[in-house]
Amino acid sequence: MQLWKGRFQKALSKTTNDFNSSISFDSRMYREDIEGSIAHSAMLGKCGIISQKDADAIGQGLKEILADIESGKLTIDPEAEDIHTFIEGELTSRLGDTGKRLHTARSRNDQVAVDIKLYLKKQVDELVNLTEGLIRVICGKAEEHSATIMPGYTHLQRAQPITFGHHLMAYAEMLLRDLGRLSDCKKRMDSMPLGSGALAGTTYPIDRQITADLLGFKGITENSLDGVSDRDYCIELASVLSIIMVHLSRFSEEIIMWCSWEFKFVELDDAFSTGSSIMPQKKNPDIAELVRGKSGRVFGDLTALLTVMKGIPLAYNKDMQEDKEAVFDAVDTVKMCLTAFTPMLDTMKVIPQNMRKAAAGGFINATDCADYLVKKGLPFRDAYKATGEIVAKCIESGLTLETLPIEEYKKICDVFDEGVYEAIGLEKCAFERSSRGGPCPDNVKKQVERVSAILDSKCYI
Ligand code: ARG
Repeated sequence: MQLWKGRFQKALSKTTNDFNSSISFDSRMYREDIEGSIAHSAMLGKCGIISQKDADAIGQGLKEILADIESGKLTIDPEAEDIHTFIEGELTSRLGDTGKRLHTARSRNDQVAVDIKLYLKKQVDELVNLTEGLIRVICGKAEEHSATIMPGYTHLQRAQPITFGHHLMAYAEMLLRDLGRLSDCKKRMDSMPLGSGALAGTTYPIDRQITADLLGFKGITENSLDGVSDRDYCIELASVLSIIMVHLSRFSEEIIMWCSWEFKFVELDDAFSTGSSIMPQKKNPDIAELVRGKSGRVFGDLTALLTVMKGIPLAYNKDMQEDKEAVFDAVDTVKMCLTAFTPMLDTMKVIPQNMRKAAAGGFINATDCADYLVKKGLPFRDAYKATGEIVAKCIESGLTLETLPIEEYKKICDVFDEGVYEAIGLEKCAFERSSRGGPCPDNVKKQVERVSAILDSKCYI
């Protein structure tokens, strides 16, 4: 069924209909389309643009359509042009002329904009919940491992000792910023475009505030051209989601490395790993790899949205129908990734002894050795140089800082005494890094408390 009969003498060709139709991907907004139409018809009734009787009948008819779709009694027609057309057509077939009054003072251009905003606002809430869930799991694990020593890396070279809890909480901070970005993006999504009409508002005495209040929008779009041609909120959400995927992908990459025999810092639960069809020994971190891989898809969605929007003149152009598949795919993918990643992390077994063993190699206490000399009065640069020479001597003689005899230390710098062995002890090096934001166990616990309190407050910046 086409709404725009009248001017046309021929029926639409099947190819054009298939090419033009968006029902296969916009039918997921049926609820929002109906909510928007209920609010619009109520407003039309209140403003006397249609009779109260018609408004009530339309509202009732739409509620029944909603119930019938949800119960499976009414199937959405895959041949319809889009969800808006389908619902209006169904209403008209049920109510006759009354149904035909629904589209007064409205266009599909402002209708589709309100539908997407209503739909995405709900999706943002779900994304927030899922992200909060992941952060809580991270906090739990971090608390458990606030004193688990592991090597910290730069350039993927062992650098300085840290705690595993501290490492995990770095991801909590990233995801907390993601929550801020999600909430922020929802704020800008929260303005109601209905009443923009096709592009130029309307001559009917509509009251947009009534519609906005009924739909729970905080604001109202203030320029009709912008109201129908803005898709910033799709782009913004896809970019927020892309950043979330960057974080999940980096986390995944680390988990994949940590699972390898080269590291063996962690082991994933059997329920969240997969095997190989040929190599019986294999246990693969597929979830983490897929999350890492799916980040590419979400970045692609963002690129698609930016590219679709960059060259189209005001106001609505059909190109904009391409917004939905991209933004929906980004939303679905991130939701799926968070849903799979969180229990994988929750059930991940940590192997502290392997982390400890790795931390004991690679001279990761060299900075602490230099700091020991600084505390004894040497300028840092001199201490750095002396320690560098000591490391070189250790490498040459196959020793570590812990096993190099004190006489050898003294040969390079006579400030050294037996106290150096205590100063370079791994626990000391990790646990005394208590500067604000540092890895010591107390800091990890405080950070977990802070992050948990922010989650409880639901106040994200
Ligand atoms: N299916 C269309 C979309 O998603 C709805 C708006 C149609 N408007 C129009 N002027 N053809 O963008």
